[in-house]
Amino acid sequence: MTWRPIRRMLLILSLTASLMGFSSAAQSAQSGSTPIRYDARTHVFRIDAKNVSYIFGVNAAGELQSIYWGARLGTSDPFPQPHALPGWASFDPSVNTTPQEFTGWGAGLYTTPDLKITFPDGNRDLVLHYVSHTIDGDDLTVTMQDIERKVFVVLDYRIDESTGILRRSATIENRTGKPFTIEESFAATWNLPPADDYRLYDLTGRWAGEWNLQRQALHPGKVVLESRRGPTSHANNPWFAIERGSSDDQDHGQVWFGALGWSGNWQIAVEQTQARQVRVTGGFNPFDFGYVLAPGESLKTPYFYAGYTSHGIGEASRLLHRFEIAEILPHHPHPPLRPVVYDSWEATGFQVNEAGQEALAEKAASIGVERFIMDDGWFGQRNDDHAGLGDWYPNPQKFPHGLGPLIAKVHSLGMSFGLWVEPEMVNPDSELYRKHPDWVLHFPGRPRSEERNQLVLNVARPDVKAYVFHTLDSLLSKNRIDFLKWDYNRNWSEPGWPAAAPDQQKKVYVQYTRNLYSILQELRARHPHVEIESCSGGGGRVDLGILRYADEVWPSDNTDPFDRLSIQNGFTYAYTPGIMMAWVTDSPNWVNNRVTSLTYRFLSSMQGALGIGANLNKWTPADFAKARALVAQYKTIRATVQRGALYRLISPLHGSEHSATEYVARDGKQVAVFAFLHSSQMGYPYPRLYLRGLQAGARYRLHMLDGQASPDTPAAASGAYWTSAGIQLILRGDFQAAAFTLEREP
Ligand code: DGJ
Repeated sequence: MTWRPIRRMLLILSLTASLMGFSSAAQSAQSGSTPIRYDARTHVFRIDAKNVSYIFGVNAAGELQSIYWGARLGTSDPFPQPHALPGWASFDPSVNTTPQEFTGWGAGLYTTPDLKITFPDGNRDLVLHYVSHTIDGDDLTVTMQDIERKVFVVLDYRIDESTGILRRSATIENRTGKPFTIEESFAATWNLPPADDYRLYDLTGRWAGEWNLQRQALHPGKVVLESRRGPTSHANNPWFAIERGSSDDQDHGQVWFGALGWSGNWQIAVEQTQARQVRVTGGFNPFDFGYVLAPGESLKTPYFYAGYTSHGIGEASRLLHRFEIAEILPHHPHPPLRPVVYDSWEATGFQVNEAGQEALAEKAASIGVERFIMDDGWFGQRNDDHAGLGDWYPNPQKFPHGLGPLIAKVHSLGMSFGLWVEPEMVNPDSELYRKHPDWVLHFPGRPRSEERNQLVLNVARPDVKAYVFHTLDSLLSKNRIDFLKWDYNRNWSEPGWPAAAPDQQKKVYVQYTRNLYSILQELRARHPHVEIESCSGGGGRVDLGILRYADEVWPSDNTDPFDRLSIQNGFTYAYTPGIMMAWVTDSPNWVNNRVTSLTYRFLSSMQGALGIGANLNKWTPADFAKARALVAQYKTIRATVQRGALYRLISPLHGSEHSATEYVARDGKQVAVFAFLHSSQMGYPYPRLYLRGLQAGARYRLHMLDGQASPDTPAAASGAYWTSAGIQLILRGDFQAAAFTLEREP
């Protein structure tokens, strides 16, 4: 056991480092101004922000031991130096029973390691211990090192003081002098208190059926949430929430929640150990992972964000919404509100041309639309989905004078102009593919599986990255485009990168996504007025990574306004309604052949960022009049819906006949409520709605936007009244909807 003396020596070194940090940490602790404190006597780190305390320390073995994560504690509550917990008989060594912030695979670890490495000599043992740390305002970095090799891991913690949400990541540094292969690389492990009454929420789906909220009891064992599909995926979104207890209440109960900022293969592993400890480990998906790190190189993991609330799953979403607006989205903390858009896809499909789009634009402008988006079909030889992807110049038959005249027309109508692109894809029937067949993901000599007749360009390649950037840069430079709808219509197959050396090829999983981010970042820097939507055949690429570069997302291709109630419900568990595009389309809707009124469709879409995708050429004058009125109403509540606090009054899930949402403006002055009835049963009245988030003593005046309240409803009443006596809406029949506002009186 030659490593033991080294381990002791490292421990002494680390304690010395800790003591050296004592004075600044003590000063910080005394000033009380910093959310991050370190007690050099006990080797305990403590992060306090908003209603949350997060505490961990260095135990005598040098491990970074998790101590507490939950409701905020008293400033002087004592925390002695943590001690590694005993193992369980001879079968579970102490490394498994001691909750740790970040573990290497070694020393008999059976839980999910944060880091697993194979060294060139075949050695695969990795035991990480504390070395040093720095605290700088809201940032803490803790450096760990293997007990013997010069493998360093720098853990980053950043606290958001307004929500208590922590951001964590790890950077692995190779100072060994030889390359090694990283086989598993997670950003962080979050440890919850031991208990056996946890329930896990996650979001699953498929194309046109995204954002299904799932809930299951946690038992000893492991639940793996993941994408192995290349992009983030429709199938599972990188978000989790874990609730303690068994209440169905939105506003009560302890909830730990989090989300990954990564748009490539990801994994979140939720484990309950035999000791009933729950640990959540997230980062790069280890499946088919193999990142060779040369001497002197480092690998940074994605960010893993997590928070805690004692006020239920509803508050967990509101905290995430606030955090996304304040910290993640482009132009945070004040991202612009979403304009009302028109998108041509469901109206014209691939059959776009100058005259047709201009006619639609005129009609869209007449109802108050603020942005006109020309969707697929405008470029190359794109007459259906068999050709054209990769050839990003206007189709000369459809746009003989280029895009200029249409863009000028749209601008002259007072709208901004948006354009659909799918820059990471190529049809084999395209000039680009004929010129560069080697640019796609593929394994030589193997079939190249097409989906929607297209292949994935390998954006990890420097030449492909440059091509994608320059194509879009020139499109944006030559045309007065204000918005890109950035689509991505398939998952990966045959993820080969034959141009790279064999031992480097698996880097495609990291390098592709990094290059994508870098393209987006540079485009935004060069064209700062251009906004971007992340779309992947609907909601296949929505995560906190892409949201640093995307102003909004397209949650689903499913535009059935009834299906949208549950889709939008699931979406808002993780993401703010302020980025959730929702179009009003035609009835009957193509997904379920369901017939609904224009009002129902509008009210369903007005719960997010309103768009219109119907074929306006088929609308009657009455439809235009109704739409004009509803668009105008939406603009009066837009800030409340997009930036306010969302309360789910009635869930649309589990076969519910009803659904209702409430949005309270940031300044509390306006409340917007939407109510939907699927189908009346046995003559029962619509459930009374009891509002939330109001000031009990303030007076609020009622305005029906659409639909009716019972005749005995007061015109104005106190917050206490609307909260406790509630409001009775008159809704009867099938697919009925109503909406109202409460305006706070001065
Ligand atoms: C998938 C998107 O989600 C749709 O809105 C539309 O843009 C089509 N692609 C166009 O091909």
